[in-house]
Amino acid sequence: MRIAVAGSSGLVGTALCASLTADGHDVLRLVRRPATDSSELHWDPAIGDVDPNPLEGIDAAVNLAGAGVGERRWSKAYKQLLRSSRIHTTAFLANTLAGLDDPPRVFVSASGINYYGTDRGNEVLDENSEPDGGFLAGLCRDWEEAAQAASAAGIAVCQTRFGIVLDRHQGAMSRMLPLFRWGLGGPLAGGRQYWSFISLADTVNALRFLIEKEGCAGAYNMTAPEPVTNAEFTRVLAYLLSRPALLPAPWLALRIALGEFAHEIAGSLRVVPTRLTESGFTHQHPTARSAIAHALSS
Ligand SMILES: NC(=O)c1ccc[n+]([C@@H]2O[C@H](COP(=O)([O-])OP(=O)(O)OC[C@H]3O[C@@H](n4cnc5c(N)ncnc54)[C@H](OP(=O)(O)O)[C@@H]3O)[C@@H](O)[C@H]2O)c1
Repeated sequence: MRIAVAGSSGLVGTALCASLTADGHDVLRLVRRPATDSSELHWDPAIGDVDPNPLEGIDAAVNLAGAGVGERRWSKAYKQLLRSSRIHTTAFLANTLAGLDDPPRVFVSASGINYYGTDRGNEVLDENSEPDGGFLAGLCRDWEEAAQAASAAGIAVCQTRFGIVLDRHQGAMSRMLPLFRWGLGGPLAGGRQYWSFISLADTVNALRFLIEKEGCAGAYNMTAPEPVTNAEFTRVLAYLLSRPALLPAPWLALRIALGEFAHEIAGSLRVVPTRLTESGFTHQHPTARSAIAHALSS
């Protein structure tokens, strides 16, 4: 298959492109810097600039683009960038795909489990659950709607609502590891909130499943089937590192360190991947223990 990938230099994109290429697929990376060879296509989604011709005849497009959510404090300007780098970028890509003479069969576009809100307690959330409020929830809703032009053109659109993707080099877990290695890690803000995680391998496999299996469309929760509380996640991580998990990180410290983003990570989202499972996808790492162990060993 020939597959175009936007946001290909990130945590998920790098792993996805490596997996597709290793299996002989033809990957076309959309890059914001100048292209270096024919496997790359320069685009500038901020100003709506791309040559659509190399996209003619692709089988699938994957959109993973967006400025880092946890990288900086959320100033007004950065919140605007978080939105525009996803919503504007997705709308531009969806419109470009819709305008092709030979469009792809499927467009897989990233979203997040924050679609369901900030704090839903112990409620089990599947793809039929109602959305809720909060900055990231509003962002996710508008992000998903931004792909509308592709569905209107008859392209099957899969909205992938990612949970916390586990990796020891990048993302949320990589930032926790140094503290844990020094024996200074512990539950966040009480630890009773659910964390819905997924291993990087399952993320890549699930994206490939949606690309390769005909008939997939709509929202898919990209999480492991057995979400756990932050306290349990912390306990397993400390155990696998052979370190104690003694020091709880209090709410005030989180709020000072992370600003408004602290509310989002201290909230509880117990999300299950019902549609993936019902479609026949099998997770390699369904439990916190298997997913964390995989992240630590890869
Ligand atoms: N990882 C998670 O735990 C998680 C959880 C929920 C949702 N998500 C979402 O899933 C997507 C992929 O996740 P990821 O972890 O791979 O993200 P990532 O590592 O932050 O990579 C995102 C990619 O987006 C592109 N990008 C960065 N700034 C941009 C901007 N201003 N405008 C347009 N594109 C920009 C970059 O690719 P190029 O430089 O190649 O363009 C970057 O590598 C992201 O949209 C993320 O928000 C991830």
